[in-house]
Amino acid sequence: MKRLLAIAFALACSAAAGAGPGKHAVAAAHPLATRAGLEVLAAGGNAFDAAVAVSAALAVVEPYSSGIGGGGFWLLHRVADGTTIMLDGREKAPLAAHADLYLDASGNVVPRLSIDGPLAAGIPGAPAALAHLARHYGRLTLERSLAPAIRLAREGFEVDEKYRRLAGWRLPVLRASAAAAEIFLLNGEVPPAGYVLRQSDLARTLESMASSGAAGFYRGPVAARLISGTRAAGGIFSREDFEQYRVVERSPVRFVYRDMQVTSVPPPSSGGIALATMMHILEGFDLPAAVGVDRKHLIVEAMRRAYRDRAQYLGDSDFHPVPRELLLSRAYAAGLRAGIRLDRVTPSASLPGAAPVEGADNTTHFSIIDAEGNRVAATLSINYPFGSGFVPPGTGVLLNDEMDDFSAKPGVPNAYGLVGAAANAIAPGKRMLSSMSPAFLETPSRLAIVGTPGGSRIITMVLLAALAFQEGGSAGQMVALPRYHHQFLPDRVQFEPGAINPGERSILENRGHVLEARERPYGNMHVVVWDYRDNSVQAASDPRGTGMASVASP
Ligand code: DON
Repeated sequence: MKRLLAIAFALACSAAAGAGPGKHAVAAAHPLATRAGLEVLAAGGNAFDAAVAVSAALAVVEPYSSGIGGGGFWLLHRVADGTTIMLDGREKAPLAAHADLYLDASGNVVPRLSIDGPLAAGIPGAPAALAHLARHYGRLTLERSLAPAIRLAREGFEVDEKYRRLAGWRLPVLRASAAAAEIFLLNGEVPPAGYVLRQSDLARTLESMASSGAAGFYRGPVAARLISGTRAAGGIFSREDFEQYRVVERSPVRFVYRDMQVTSVPPPSSGGIALATMMHILEGFDLPAAVGVDRKHLIVEAMRRAYRDRAQYLGDSDFHPVPRELLLSRAYAAGLRAGIRLDRVTPSASLPGAAPVEGADNTTHFSIIDAEGNRVAATLSINYPFGSGFVPPGTGVLLNDEMDDFSAKPGVPNAYGLVGAAANAIAPGKRMLSSMSPAFLETPSRLAIVGTPGGSRIITMVLLAALAFQEGGSAGQMVALPRYHHQFLPDRVQFEPGAINPGERSILENRGHVLEARERPYGNMHVVVWDYRDNSVQAASDPRGTGMASVASP
């Protein structure tokens, strides 16, 4: 029955998609990136060309969040042939990396080695992904779609308070890299608001990609500088790393929750599988009817169980067997659901396996639809604010510190609070486990394109937004929703100001939950919604961020 329902939805959705919304929409974390996408759409590009333009523009104007020195996942749907894939541009461990890379002679984790400086960087995947997008999905040339980013790099953009806050936070590590300090600081200090930041080396690297595609980054002079620059500073990149880097097109995770089909990302992200586990568990309850505290209790219990599995089972499935079919099965979720009591918490310590995960608040997401209905949900990262803080001289490329998403040593938390199992141990050429969860949500009447940064909290933010959408929530409501989160360990419910009121808090505490009020809101969600009933399109950017969402006529 469920399967029939899924097929019926798929048909209904594709029928609606065939017509297209007749409008474009872009929601991204920086107005200049949204404008870059709209510019390329106005020039005759499709959603995939716009995704190239937005990704590249974000690399320039949000250097603390993502970039061509990093990677990400681009979830794509092409109307012409119904293709839906996840383009995996996740970074890979260098070939010289090994399970003990961040351990000292006594087997202890060396603090910050997987976070600061060139040894923290994986081989970037974003440049290969942009070239692949343009070549296989776009209508315009890579050169045309990179043009807005090149212009922004050359002419500069004004730094804002967010830039200043994050540069301040990463000041020591930016100062430690002469090329990074030269670009991102002013005389070794955080530049004042309004300072125009120009990135001529990055412009040249982007131009090299514009003229030579992926080879303009992974081969020739740019690659040579990336390799020699990192090696001179203690890194381990090699020519083979760059020659061998390939993006992978992977089948998305798809499942049905009530009347909604969810499409999200498979390993090396944990997002799609964790969403499926949580929503399969929750489907056994009458969630739309559950109000207030009971709803939160049930959602928290579902989160706890999915994050336990994340820690235990998930990693790069090209390297370690991930029990995908089992984890995606309803029968498995039913077993997890059977352990949930409404009147009591299930302490995480009573569930087998143990591994805390943590996260911070940068990385970036954008959502795009074009007039024909082609769509992209992309979450991109260099991990920490300003990544590793290291720029190989002459490249303008700020390298990621995504290596920290590996488990540096089983059972030992890294500096981010992350602990993992063998599935996510470091191995040469392996991709590190991610929480990034770009997703498409489809009900019989509407489609949503959704995602957010936020480290380990990404998946629960997308969950809350998806539940709200299924119950009729608008794009604006999805991004503004107060957020709460449980990740198995530490065994506590984190919540944003206002997400759990004092009355609910005391009831949850009576049931055994430990609550932690967070001082600051988190996440930066960007959503596009297409309503098939009146063919309207809405786009919304998270009120917590400084992004811009825009709907335009072609
Ligand atoms: O791939 C991941 O899960 C992380 N590198 C994402 C990091 C992130 O979202 C940081 N801040 N919000």
